[in-house]
Amino acid sequence: MASHSLITWVPLFCFLSFLLSMSFAARDTPNSLYKAVNLGGWIVTEGWIKPSLFDGIPNKDLLDGTQIQLKSVTQGKYLAAESGGGTTIVADRTNPSGWESFSLWRLNQTSFQMRVFNGQFIGVDKQGQGVDLVAVSNTSGRWETFEIVRKSDDLNRIRLKAPNGFFVQVKTEVLVTADFAGNSSWGDNDPSVFVMRIARTLQGEFQITNGYGQEKATQVLREHWKSFIVEDDFKFVSQNGLNAVRIPVGWWIASDPTPPWPFVGGSLETLDNAFSWAEKYNLKVIVDLHAAPGSQNGWEHSGSRDGFQEWGKTDENIQQTVNVIDFLTARYAKSPSLIAVELINEPLSPGVSLDRLTKYYKAGYDVVRKHSSTAYVIMSNRLGPANPMELFPLASGRTRTAIDVHYYNLFSSMFDNMTVQDNINFINTNRSSQLNAITTSNGPETFVGEWVAEWQVQGAAKEDYQRFAKAQLEVYGRASFGWAYWGLKNVNNHWSLEWMIKNGYITL
Ligand SMILES: *[C@@H]1O[C@H](CO)[C@@H](O)[C@H](O)[C@H]1NC(C)=O
Ligand SMILES: *[C@@H]1O[C@H](CO)[C@@H](O)[C@H](O)[C@H]1NC(C)=O
Ligand SMILES: *[C@@H]1O[C@H](CO)[C@@H](O)[C@H](O)[C@H]1NC(C)=O
Ligand SMILES: *[C@@H]1O[C@H](CO)[C@@H](O)[C@H](O)[C@H]1NC(C)=O
Ligand SMILES: *[C@@H]1O[C@H](CO)[C@@H](O)[C@H](O)[C@H]1NC(C)=O
Repeated sequence: MASHSLITWVPLFCFLSFLLSMSFAARDTPNSLYKAVNLGGWIVTEGWIKPSLFDGIPNKDLLDGTQIQLKSVTQGKYLAAESGGGTTIVADRTNPSGWESFSLWRLNQTSFQMRVFNGQFIGVDKQGQGVDLVAVSNTSGRWETFEIVRKSDDLNRIRLKAPNGFFVQVKTEVLVTADFAGNSSWGDNDPSVFVMRIARTLQGEFQITNGYGQEKATQVLREHWKSFIVEDDFKFVSQNGLNAVRIPVGWWIASDPTPPWPFVGGSLETLDNAFSWAEKYNLKVIVDLHAAPGSQNGWEHSGSRDGFQEWGKTDENIQQTVNVIDFLTARYAKSPSLIAVELINEPLSPGVSLDRLTKYYKAGYDVVRKHSSTAYVIMSNRLGPANPMELFPLASGRTRTAIDVHYYNLFSSMFDNMTVQDNINFINTNRSSQLNAITTSNGPETFVGEWVAEWQVQGAAKEDYQRFAKAQLEVYGRASFGWAYWGLKNVNNHWSLEWMIKNGYITL
């Protein structure tokens, strides 16, 4: 083009940009809908996404947070923390449930502490004769440490060696003591033998790091971080109709390279790489604090040790979390790829109260704004019983905010017997109206930060999946900020957007 035409074009270009910026300012919306994919199972471990990561851990079925239930072979009854904890351990329950489940803290592959329903640890009573089993201590130490001795040819037959050197035995349904001396023939007549049932396992960051121990965990995770997602994946994402990635991170990243025990260093460098690849391929990044200190939901993907939800209970804990957001925003605010900071993922009601969450969101918003006037601040709706518009008063008065909702046709018995068409109707009717209700002209932007083309339908055809994905893309495409598929890679094919795209299930 000849140089003179530049003179004509420059003012027109300026005028157009002016118009565009006017319309952005007026609507305060992003200049395009973000179509993103979650890089789940990368910087925050989730075992189900890549189970082989856990293969090398000795006694890998007894990790932190594993819930065990112990049935006395002589009584045929389960041990229970009476009243859920705070008093004695009994052996009189036929149907194991919460009070009969003990959550492990792993000291090493054979020594454990056991946390009961109300949060106390099982220990040997130091007040009484010194041999009764109780669950009274809120903290754990030597007197709450037990060795789990497994029968070599039947790993679910166990004995518990107490800190006084004796084995735990069941004398009667209401008397469980640590005073059995000596060996066992492992028979059904031995009161120190239990059948162990594993009621729940967790495979998150705490489990993998403490399970391997620092040195081995560092090797395993560094190898994972540099191979699970690589530069080529960012290229793939950018070439397949997506323009952003949502990256889950854990709170310990802020003290890299020397995070607190048992976490290991190196995740920050991984996130740095993600940003440089995103910049290279012109992708936006949503940094998502997926694991907050103390755990905001008790699930493995929030870095929980034992399934207890302890985030937000103290002001100190909230301040610690704000500091993580401060660190992350300061580090990436200058990157043209940083589009949003998500303050916390999936806080769970009622354990996380609206009051505590609001306190955190206000402080978190301010600390993002300290470093960036343009980054969106994403506030995740609470899961569990909560009003989907409860964050509106908070978010509406602040600029560039978005509410994150997660829409899965899973994790509820509501979906148990739905057909393919029921599932699609549910998207078109129920999800559509849910999203519509929170997408308002003067409220925060809306973001469907997690969804997947997977359901409880068994044996569905490829065409069924295609229709299901298409319905979701259409509905979630109406979210004003955008959406993010969960996730890019997964051993379960439908959870892998890469697999879904390469195999023609999803086209963007
Ligand atoms: C496991 O920890 C216990 C308690 O700290 C200790 O006595 C034991 O020697 C340890 N065992 C192994 C195999 O490291
Ligand atoms: C344990 O914690 C509970 C709840 O915070 C508290 O009421 C109780 O007094 C504590 N018990 C001990 C022995 O410290
Ligand atoms: C218990 O078994 C161990 C290992 O088989 C053996 O060394 C030990 O002598 C036995 N102790 C008693 C008291 O029978
Ligand atoms: C699903 O169907 C099964 C078998 O008919 C039935 O037992 C169950 O209650 C149903 N679940 C729901 C949530 O409707
Ligand atoms: C979905 O929406 C329809 C129409 O509003 C309603 O009748 C139905 O109960 C909803 N289904 C579920 C499972 O919530």
